[in-house]
Amino acid sequence: METRLGFSWRILVVLAAILAGIECGVVAEKPRGNRRHAYASMMYMGTPRDYEFFVATRVMMRSLSKLRVDADLVVIASIDVPSRWLRALKEEDGVKVVRVENLRNPYEKQDNFNSRFKLTLNKLYAWSLVAYDRVVMLDSDNIFLQRTDELFQCGQFCAVFINPCIFHTGLFVLQPSIDVFNNMLHELEIGRENPDGADQGFLASYFPDLLDRPMFHPPANGSKLDGFYRLPLGYQMDASYYYLKLRWSIPCGPNSVITFPSAPWLKPWYWWSWPVLPLGLSWHEQRRKNLGYNSELLVMLIQSAMYLGILAVTRLVRPSLTKLCYNRKPEKSIALLHASLKVAGIWSIVAAYTVPFFLVPRTVHPVLGLVSLSARLGSSDVDCDQRLFTARTVSSHTMARESWDLCL
Ligand SMILES: *[C@@H]1O[C@H](CO)[C@@H](O)[C@H](O)[C@H]1NC(C)=O
Repeated sequence: METRLGFSWRILVVLAAILAGIECGVVAEKPRGNRRHAYASMMYMGTPRDYEFFVATRVMMRSLSKLRVDADLVVIASIDVPSRWLRALKEEDGVKVVRVENLRNPYEKQDNFNSRFKLTLNKLYAWSLVAYDRVVMLDSDNIFLQRTDELFQCGQFCAVFINPCIFHTGLFVLQPSIDVFNNMLHELEIGRENPDGADQGFLASYFPDLLDRPMFHPPANGSKLDGFYRLPLGYQMDASYYYLKLRWSIPCGPNSVITFPSAPWLKPWYWWSWPVLPLGLSWHEQRRKNLGYNSELLVMLIQSAMYLGILAVTRLVRPSLTKLCYNRKPEKSIALLHASLKVAGIWSIVAAYTVPFFLVPRTVHPVLGLVSLSARLGSSDVDCDQRLFTARTVSSHTMARESWDLCL
């Protein structure tokens, strides 16, 4: 009982610490004036991860304004993005929102087509932002370590090769142009070759000889370059390179932007990806400093209170359960009951491991996520029968984690 109470207190203390820490981390953003340059990213709906990308976009945009970039922040949002999200972007984050119709993806029927990339062609709208001299187009899974405004000195199209032969479209520089934009739409119509059916494949096919172009070095006098350039790797440091030495060091060029091109369920904002991808903590540091966790904290507190309540109830019912299981003569029906209780118990334990991944808000801090998970998995010191009872009557989430083999 004491360890249980101690555990519960620890949960509360950690939650309180995070609650107290985030309030002062949130910055109110002033509206920004018109600039000649923009950092832009896109948002669209229809994937299971829309909300996560919304949070990630906010964190990235706020970290850019914290770096005092001399540029507008633009989100190219398809028309079905909820207006309350757009209001948050505009009013709280100081972002300009450009609403667009989704571009039809002509590659949907292609064999290797991955439907999660269906709307990534919306990225081409970046070329329609002709109010700007240059645009840096971004995916929302970038972490900026420092200002990168020198990128606006680059030419008509500049990108990073994180793969020896294919440039990455998580960050690229472009000069907006209606002619280029219309030409790209035309190329979509006539079905230009596109190896992956996404923005990545289309742009690689549209700018096929970028690998042979010179490396970008920003002119010291601040003037803009013309033409096509490769960007140094330091503008798209693949998170997986980090693990070669457990630190970042690209000896040539800047070390400015980290990107996460790995599997979608290992994006840095997921609370469960942190043990695999410690760099996720850097993302959460950015979120804590720039956006905070207020929007998800209430849910987390209610959930934690609920589960602590369930833990308390399972404590209280313990004696009656012991009676149920042992104070009767062994009979066939009881044996059957016992067996089915065991099956129910095992299933509940499996559920206790999997259900939290659907219930805990996905972009909470790893500490919050893991605390919530362990609250669900709590009761690790209860005995087997109690667990079986709990499985049957109270909740599957309070199943003990290491003890199910004892029940067998
Ligand atoms: C700036 O420097 C580049 C070379 O780096 C030169 O070609 C260009 O003429 C200079 N522009 C101005 C305005 O001085």
